[in-house]
Amino acid sequence: MTFRARHLLGIEHLSPQEITTILDLADRYVDMNRRTVKQSDVLSGLTQINMFFEASTRTQASFELAGKRLGADVMNMSVALSSVKKGETLIDTAMTLNAMQPDLLVVRHPSSGAVNLLASKVNCAVLNAGDGRHEHPTQALLDALTIRRAKGRIQRLTVAICGDIAHSRVARSNLILLGKMENRIRLIAPPTLMPAGVGDFGCELYDDMRAGLEGADVVMMLRLQKERMDGGFIPSEREYYHRYGLDAEKLAHAKPDAIVMHPGPMNRGVEIDGELADDINRSVIQEQVEMGVAVRMACMDLLARNLRAERGRRAVGVMV
Ligand code: CP
Repeated sequence: MTFRARHLLGIEHLSPQEITTILDLADRYVDMNRRTVKQSDVLSGLTQINMFFEASTRTQASFELAGKRLGADVMNMSVALSSVKKGETLIDTAMTLNAMQPDLLVVRHPSSGAVNLLASKVNCAVLNAGDGRHEHPTQALLDALTIRRAKGRIQRLTVAICGDIAHSRVARSNLILLGKMENRIRLIAPPTLMPAGVGDFGCELYDDMRAGLEGADVVMMLRLQKERMDGGFIPSEREYYHRYGLDAEKLAHAKPDAIVMHPGPMNRGVEIDGELADDINRSVIQEQVEMGVAVRMACMDLLARNLRAERGRRAVGVMV
């Protein structure tokens, strides 16, 4: 298996071979998760701490389930009830938890780069569960697994990523991953939600949904991130839905077998029609959630192998 990383901080640090290694292992965990007994001991004896400084349903729940199914001791730090509320900094909080000897630290933080900074201060493996507008690597990996299972491959596809690109770490991680795997990527957004310089990633830019969706294999919708907006990025939600919301009429411009994705949480009737989101013939949104558990199991399994190997080498070095 090809996977040498100490931490999982972003897709930009992974090679195509490492991405394939994660997806192949995650496929095996999908099978395990569909059994009645979903238990393994690959993280037995290890301690996993989840620190979420931003709200989460899918990512936090799936990291917790992933750790428990692999036999780790899992602790969810409640940031709202912690000394962060008394003004303790991220680094002091991380150093305090680090002193309790965790092995895996899962972190979500509103500031881009915060998770990388934290990883440089601790002894354990750090997994980025989303940092600001920077990266959400496990989301891109679970999206890749969902696409690979639906389309039979994760190369040479036309993928349209639509909506609030400007505020989206999901879009950024997907852009990097899908580019590394040699897909054709189209970004569709109003000019106010298309970040400057994004064309440097080698993708095609559109501000018209129908033109951008023409012939797409995969349609990935993004949430309008109102909490990261401090100005008038859209005239109104009604107008946004009219021009950029995905409905059956706009989807008809994509390939007849195009799949519809959304990382969640969804704003129904803003970026996507609710009925389309629930249409099991087109939408793979529930599969994305299922793949999330398996991908996080695979990532923690691989990081734990590297951590154990590193500790083993250090122990031998001490003995010699
Ligand atoms: N997709 C995603 O990150 O969802 P949550 O915010 O619910 O974790």
